Amino acid sequence: MAARRAPFPDRSDRAGPSGQVARGHGPSTISRQRATLAGAACGLARSARPAVTANFETANASAARRYTGKRRSDYAALKLAGLRDAPVHLAIFTATDPDEGHGLGRQTMPEMLTFSTVCAIHSLWLAARADNIGVGWVSILDPAALHATLDAPANWHFTAYLCLGIAAQPDDTPLLHRTGWQDNTVTDWHRV
Ligand SMILES: Cc1cc2nc3c(=O)[nH]c(=O)nc-3n(C[C@H](O)[C@H](O)[C@H](O)COP(=O)(O)O)c2cc1C
Repeated sequence: MAARRAPFPDRSDRAGPSGQVARGHGPSTISRQRATLAGAACGLARSARPAVTANFETANASAARRYTGKRRSDYAALKLAGLRDAPVHLAIFTATDPDEGHGLGRQTMPEMLTFSTVCAIHSLWLAARADNIGVGWVSILDPAALHATLDAPANWHFTAYLCLGIAAQPDDTPLLHRTGWQDNTVTDWHRV
């Protein structure tokens, strides 16, 4: 069990311009440089991974029980997380009251902080893909349990858990299309 480091001495653990903060589980096959590009803090021990994986398995089993018949067996056949395979995990939180920005743009819609974090995730995703690194967003997690596992500060809002790594095989067809779970739908534009 690796020792826990002192709370947040690493620059990359602090809130970014829009309050997004990341905790990472150290890279092994992706270079530190690339992980830093992704905004990751590389100090948190890998020891959190089993608890995160158990969290996913519990949440996933619970989600599966909501389906019946073929939908349930189809759901069970989907690979919905790469937690065991991905060399880099990022838990991304949003600081709920950062000094940065002095509150600008979030008086009426405080959820903008989280939206801003998601924009940063999207940028990370594009940068990773440009470098042939795959990104998977794992949303089948109990956020409160994840928060406790990572011992995150109370004023951090858990926003996303990402798995990064080189894909085992290239595939432009999304899994959900390939398995027939859900096809693309037409975008419904409304002129006002
Ligand atoms: C908000 C959000 C949540 C997602 N949650 C999951 C998830 O829990 N499990 C999963 O397998 N894929 C999930 N996905 C989809 C994958 O992360 C991702 O779309 C897939 O790996 C394809 O990545 P690519 O488009 O870069 O090839 C989610 C995507 C988004 C945008």
